[in-house]
Amino acid sequence: MKIGIVGLGYIGSVTAVALTEAGYEIVGIDIDESKVKSLSNGEPTIFEPNLKELLTKNKSKLFFSTDYDDLKDVQYIFVVVPTPNKDGSIYLEYVYDAVSSIKKVNKNAVIITNSTVLPGTARNLMERTGMVVISNPEFTKEGTAIEDTLHPDRVVIGGSEKSAVDAVKKLWEFTHSIMVETTNENAEMIKYASNSFLAVKISFINEIANICEMVPGCDVEVVAKGMGLDKRIAPYFLKAGIGFGGSCFPKDTTAILSFARSFGEDLSIIKSAIEVNNDRVNRIMNILKNKIHKDNSEVTVGVLGMTFKAGTDDTRESQSIKLIRSLLDVGYKVNVYDPMAKIRIDGITRLNTAKECIDKSDVAVIATEWPEFKNLEINTDKFVIDMRRMLDLNSHSNLKTVGYYG
Ligand code: UGA
Repeated sequence: MKIGIVGLGYIGSVTAVALTEAGYEIVGIDIDESKVKSLSNGEPTIFEPNLKELLTKNKSKLFFSTDYDDLKDVQYIFVVVPTPNKDGSIYLEYVYDAVSSIKKVNKNAVIITNSTVLPGTARNLMERTGMVVISNPEFTKEGTAIEDTLHPDRVVIGGSEKSAVDAVKKLWEFTHSIMVETTNENAEMIKYASNSFLAVKISFINEIANICEMVPGCDVEVVAKGMGLDKRIAPYFLKAGIGFGGSCFPKDTTAILSFARSFGEDLSIIKSAIEVNNDRVNRIMNILKNKIHKDNSEVTVGVLGMTFKAGTDDTRESQSIKLIRSLLDVGYKVNVYDPMAKIRIDGITRLNTAKECIDKSDVAVIATEWPEFKNLEINTDKFVIDMRRMLDLNSHSNLKTVGYYG
């Protein structure tokens, strides 16, 4: 079976490669010539574990092109183009453009929307184009995206055309996952509700962390562990820290909020989760101000990690980047180390190792949970703000007295 994929960004390129593992042949389309060229040469344009290996291994099943014409005899086409925020609302023009380009070459194809789109989008697309649209949101996490695509907790399939729904179910049968068959709108809402709930979970534990910091004897890590053992709560997404970033949670929580507002509904829990998250960087700035009694221009802060989490080179909406910009804004000198991030920021000094970054700074902030930070050697005169609770204070006993904030 041949499957089309329009949009070869993070999710699109992962989905394309993962589906070849299941035996499918892929026609991948992107308007960005450089992406197509790179993927055709076996080079992913992003870092994702195992992506390059599988791209090489399954080369014969992958065809990449900028020409929609190459989709003319493909029956099932995933649309995985970006759905960014514009002025606080979701911008769907890329989805509409992609589907109308497909229609021009293959009006009988079944469209499978895999991008995160607001409830009502599939219906709107069907009305605009007269094509069959199945809503099949993805639930993959960067860093484990291939594994998540091949072995999802569930596959959600929304649509009203029985034969198309059955075909998409069959397409994912190889995952042996639970299938949720429902309306387009429910499938679209499940994605927003899931991402928002996870974001709420993170902000919730970050609020508990705030109060734990004030109460002697309280430690949020232990509290989260004790909570997570309750099956109804579960241990996942209860890691307190710098807050959530990435291309999904910040965008999706904002989009569902403004979508709900258009119906006169105020999603106060999601709104609070965003506010708590926005405050994370301010809290680091306050710790710095309260602990280091020096003029900012005399202090160099070493930021360890720029990506929004470990295991990726993605810095979109990264809390670390927001921290770096805030530090620069108020006059700190900033050293930065990250093993993967490609982003360039004016005014910072990028260093080659974590050790060098710490040694050349007065204060270190651990912003991303890169495993190498666990075993850092830290000189006794450093003050460390550990936003990912990476350091084991037993092996860094000097920090307990000199200055550690976790
Ligand atoms: C998220 C969802 O987890 C996926 O299910 C979804 O498919 C994806 O968005 C999407 O919509 O495409 P992702 O953004 O790759 O995946 O990353 P997560 O692992 O969910 O982490 C998001 C942010 O939350 C990161 O900044 C991470 O450091 C932070 N986080 C996560 C915490 O601060 N604490 C936690 O306990 C978990």
